[in-house]
Amino acid sequence: MPKITIQDFLRKKTEGRKISMLTAYDFPFAQIVDEAGVDSILVGDSLGMVVQGLDNTLPVTMDEMIYHTRLVTRAVKNAMVIGDMPFMSYQTSVEDAVRNAGRFLKEAGASAIKLEGGREVADQIRAMTRSDIPVMAHIGLTPQSIHRMGGYKVQGKTEGAAARLLEEAHIAEDAGAFSLLLEAIPMELSKKITEELSIPTIGIGAGPFCDGQVLVLHDVIGMFERFVPKFVKRYANLKESALKAVRDYREEVEKGIFPSEDTSFK
Ligand code: KIV
Repeated sequence: MPKITIQDFLRKKTEGRKISMLTAYDFPFAQIVDEAGVDSILVGDSLGMVVQGLDNTLPVTMDEMIYHTRLVTRAVKNAMVIGDMPFMSYQTSVEDAVRNAGRFLKEAGASAIKLEGGREVADQIRAMTRSDIPVMAHIGLTPQSIHRMGGYKVQGKTEGAAARLLEEAHIAEDAGAFSLLLEAIPMELSKKITEELSIPTIGIGAGPFCDGQVLVLHDVIGMFERFVPKFVKRYANLKESALKAVRDYREEVEKGIFPSEDTSFK
């Protein structure tokens, strides 16, 4: 199977076929997501919370994102890998934004980048697109704005806020984004945005009407329990399985059951 491209994303929208996306941050999990046939892997700055144990995504650095994106692209055969631009890697200037976005393609082997915002970063989206860096924009709940938003809250609930998000979606598309991520917004709003845009929308907490869906892998497989948002569906409990395996190992070592003769050399 050839590598998924941004043209495949657009084709899927036109043909009414859903786009699947998950996050991954390292070689073994990227391999699993890729082997499972998921269309795209987002190396999200959510790694700050689910891998680094931070309270939010703000401290994550460009160098850390490049390191994790490299681990993922090394594992992937088919999925399209998208690198997530961390806080302050693109807000400061258009020049910073293009230089940092370019690092994901040049140093880490990603095919595209994602950044948070639409309206305020339209110049950055335009400049990156002009430099042949495909951009996914991200509106609604944008975790890098946690201090302005006052927490992880559903966005676009009033008529005015919904109208502003719809306008922002169009701004992102007009600036050249190839896709738009919609996080934590009412499903009727994401339906309207999806119907009005010609680029595919990818939802997370945005209901069933988007062109595609993304979740944080560690939520899906039960590896992150600090909080579980309403929109998450857990398909496995790997934390429980790993805990049992490690407890069993410890007990067998303590009781002298492991190592046994058959795991030893003669
Ligand atoms: O960083 C991330 O994983 C994200 C998801 C919430 C989509 O942006």
